[in-house]
Amino acid sequence: MADVKSDDVKILDHYSLNANGLHVEVDIKQTGAEFVPNYEVTFPGIGIATKLLLLSLRSEMVTMTPIDPSRIQIKEYLDDLTKRVQSASKILIDKYLPGTTGDTKDVLSAYMVNMMIGFGDLEAPIADEHLEEIAVNGSREPIWVFHKRIGWCKSNIKPPNEESIYDQAESIGRRVGREINNLAPLMDAELADGSRVNATLFPISQVGNTITIRKFERNPWTMPALVKNGTVSPQIAGLIWLCIQNEISLLISGGTASGKTSFLNASSIFFPPTRRIISVEETKELTLPKLYQWISMLTRQPNPEGKGQVTLYDLMINALRQRPDIMLVGEVRTAKDAETLFEAIHTGHAVYGTIHADNAQDTVIRMTNPPIEVPKIMMNAIGGMIVAFRHRTRGIRRVLEFGEILKTGDANVLYRWNMRNDTFAQLSDMTRLSETIALYGGLTRKEIDDEVAEKATILNWMTKYNVIDVDNAGFVVSNYYKNREKVLDIVKNDVPYTDKLFK
Ligand SMILES: Nc1ncnc2c1ncn2[C@@H]1O[C@H](COP(=O)(O)OP(=O)(O)O)[C@@H](O)[C@H]1O
Ligand SMILES: [Mg+2]
Repeated sequence: MADVKSDDVKILDHYSLNANGLHVEVDIKQTGAEFVPNYEVTFPGIGIATKLLLLSLRSEMVTMTPIDPSRIQIKEYLDDLTKRVQSASKILIDKYLPGTTGDTKDVLSAYMVNMMIGFGDLEAPIADEHLEEIAVNGSREPIWVFHKRIGWCKSNIKPPNEESIYDQAESIGRRVGREINNLAPLMDAELADGSRVNATLFPISQVGNTITIRKFERNPWTMPALVKNGTVSPQIAGLIWLCIQNEISLLISGGTASGKTSFLNASSIFFPPTRRIISVEETKELTLPKLYQWISMLTRQPNPEGKGQVTLYDLMINALRQRPDIMLVGEVRTAKDAETLFEAIHTGHAVYGTIHADNAQDTVIRMTNPPIEVPKIMMNAIGGMIVAFRHRTRGIRRVLEFGEILKTGDANVLYRWNMRNDTFAQLSDMTRLSETIALYGGLTRKEIDDEVAEKATILNWMTKYNVIDVDNAGFVVSNYYKNREKVLDIVKNDVPYTDKLFK
């Protein structure tokens, strides 16, 4: 074992961010004595004593500017409220911290705004784009955060007591019309920015009251971005592109947080811009290129009286009446979801969806056994499956398998990730998939290989010139569909990307 002195401190990262006008410094450190890194936030300009003083002014603030939480979601109300809280806070600062001026006053005021109408101490991690998850596990321990590169870290933010967590959960709920209390101690809610919040109360949760926030990803994944970070090889990505171009339906499976939905999003840049796309999801996760004709639909939970529920199944049925060419299904869970998915494929739509399963074989097992239980023979309506995988200890995500579905409904794995040397090995040659592509696209076996190679080259070019955001990536692919020769010419001559290139 390495010799680790307890006073060893390794800085893993340092950056600053802006949390609603409040300047925040973030330091991530690994100390020799600890098992997980520390995530430390500091607010330059606000000392501990000042912070405590400001916190003690809460009730006086509420008296000065009453807040109606049910209207906080309304932008006009929030803007106006923010202004009122700002001026009230300045009056209080003058009263209790006389002599505070200019910038310092603004900083203190921003802190109070976050405390009164924002998420208080959670506002800084919420504003941190490097974080995926924020977890409040009762008041006995500090808040944990999941950093995209570093993984779980223990923060220096600690809830003062159980009540404060309860209050916070309640106020989050009130904003989005959900309730949490002793009779309904579990809450799932979605914030206006698309982040997902789950809260549970003691004693259902034994550690104390909890809040878990899964942050909304603002920069959606695209295929060149996944090629760039090694999630998938350009060849497999090229084959997926060819499948999508030929309207072949695909399923993406994987474990929790393995990257299924991200991969679905990443694949969407291959949709021809001439198609009408409808997506159905439980929470808004997908972001497609702006140039598409795209209708995004979300499910809704029942209200406290049990009314108004809209299920994924309802949305799928409804989507089919809106004449889509392509349907995206967030996550298939029930027998009805699966039936509708196959119904959609059989009536001539290309369907792309995710499902929870560990590998290609397991995906077929999941689909053909209770509770989903579709007849195995129906599976062959799906052309291929992608299995997403998260390697926990190495903190990387990879396409574990890419498989075709045989006529019998079984999976035939074509590619599998080799963990040892981080490569994608070809296990077998496609049979059914090439037949289907031949049928729809009229391509010979050799032409299929050439097309895959061509697409892989384009993806490499996109990766090289960092065309990895959803709009630019979608733009390049759309240009390829419209004027293939021109795009190939640019790629062959290795011309650097600009959005003027195709004009
Ligand atoms: N290939 C990838 N490389 C790096 N991070 C990824 C990758 N795929 C997903 N992520 C990140 O992992 C988290 C979970 O991804 P998500 O697609 O929601 O998983 P799932 O749908 O399997 O639950 C997100 O924060 C996402 O940004
Ligand atoms: Mg998902």
